Amino acid sequence: MKNSREQWGSRLGFILAASGSAVGLGNIWKYPHMAGQNGGAAFTVVYLLCILIVGLPILLGELAIGRKTQLSPVGAFNKLSNLSNWKWVGFLGVASAFVILSFYGVVGGWTLKYTLFALSGGFDSLSGSPDVSGQIFSEFIGSSLQPIFWQLIFMSFCMGIIIKGVKSGIEGGAKIMMPLILIILGLLVFKGLSLEGGKKGLEFLFKPKFSDLNPSSIVMALGHAFFTLSLGMGTMITYGSYLDEKQNLFTSAIWIILLDTFIAMLAGTAIFTIVFAMGADPSAGAGLIFVVLPTIFPQIGGGAIWGTLFFFILFMAALTSAISILEVITAYFIDEKGWSRNKATLLFGGIISLVGVFCSLSLGEFNITAPLNIPFFDFLDELASKYMLPIGGTLTALFILKKWSIKKFLKELLIGVKEQKFDKIFYQNVIKFLLIVSALIVILIIMNEAFNLLFPEYLQNAKNGWLLIFSVVVYFAFFI
Ligand code: PFF
Repeated sequence: MKNSREQWGSRLGFILAASGSAVGLGNIWKYPHMAGQNGGAAFTVVYLLCILIVGLPILLGELAIGRKTQLSPVGAFNKLSNLSNWKWVGFLGVASAFVILSFYGVVGGWTLKYTLFALSGGFDSLSGSPDVSGQIFSEFIGSSLQPIFWQLIFMSFCMGIIIKGVKSGIEGGAKIMMPLILIILGLLVFKGLSLEGGKKGLEFLFKPKFSDLNPSSIVMALGHAFFTLSLGMGTMITYGSYLDEKQNLFTSAIWIILLDTFIAMLAGTAIFTIVFAMGADPSAGAGLIFVVLPTIFPQIGGGAIWGTLFFFILFMAALTSAISILEVITAYFIDEKGWSRNKATLLFGGIISLVGVFCSLSLGEFNITAPLNIPFFDFLDELASKYMLPIGGTLTALFILKKWSIKKFLKELLIGVKEQKFDKIFYQNVIKFLLIVSALIVILIIMNEAFNLLFPEYLQNAKNGWLLIFSVVVYFAFFI
């Protein structure tokens, strides 16, 4: 039977689209401030370990499941498990996409507003005054209409690209935006390093201070490894489903991880060299980008241009990621319900934008999760990155271990690999080991989170902690 599914136009196009999904606000906005507040390079080391030990096997798993079935997550799990309950892992992915894009689109809107703000020379009046800049930023995100207006424009770009389809829309967009992001970031790094005192930023980012690392930073690094590689919600299953059998999944996955990590490091370098050169506060948290940077760009030569370029790459990075999130939902309705691409994109893009409106409003006067004492925006962010993505990723690992089988997984991975003369049993064991370790680490960390939330006293006692670890490991050993 001929495969009528849309396919990527080229291998490069696929790698750019998939790394476009991975490279986003997570790399340029979240990673630098997380590293800034959690021991700089010490956080980076833990984050890189999480990416290699937990991220790589699950990324390979998602790509293989997608390519094998040529379906988006719900259909893919259904097909490989003969219509069993595993399809709920696929539904969890669709639900996570919904949750993430609701708040992601809001921040996407901020990046657009700040690009134009910088372009119009608006940062000049903020020079050297973080208080004024902070106030302008909080007034902007807390107001009712402005951020919603920008969010809707951002979501329209996202829907416009998806409607054009996999090859001309998603791949075409990534082929333009990803090289631009790399080039502009390269220029910003160059600029940062050439500023006097900028090199201190490098030390901050790359010299480990393990004393600043605490258990919660490790949880954060793990959650972020999922978020930054777009894992645990079927994005890579969906993108893998547009791949043909000529592609080598292993080298593609390595490329995606390298590009994602490289861009996070470049962004960190650009930001911290500029921050240190201008004597600003590197641990300013989430406001580092939107509050601190606008006050220091005007102090460097050609600041308006550098500021505009910086927020423009942030916008493009957010857009290539948002596209991949909406594609999970669009592909579900195309594959499983037979809808047209236009209908699925417009309807669900519209509904997500509406939920996004409530996210945006929650930062000002109207918060629907006020009884929980947390803005709806943060609630969705925490729900997705701390729970939904890690749980989705672990279930994907368990699915391969328990249902699909390592043997079939390796067979799928080896399609497109030229060199076939190696010890397959050895590799099966390596993959099995990695999947078990990644599933186990995530389960332990989620239990830790859940206990801290529900019984805050319990884990204060180290003995209880060890008991919990021991019981999870024993239970897990029996299950596997
Ligand atoms: N990887 C994106 C980032 O780092 O910003 C966020 C993301 C995209 C998460 C796609 C999940 C996803 F499916």
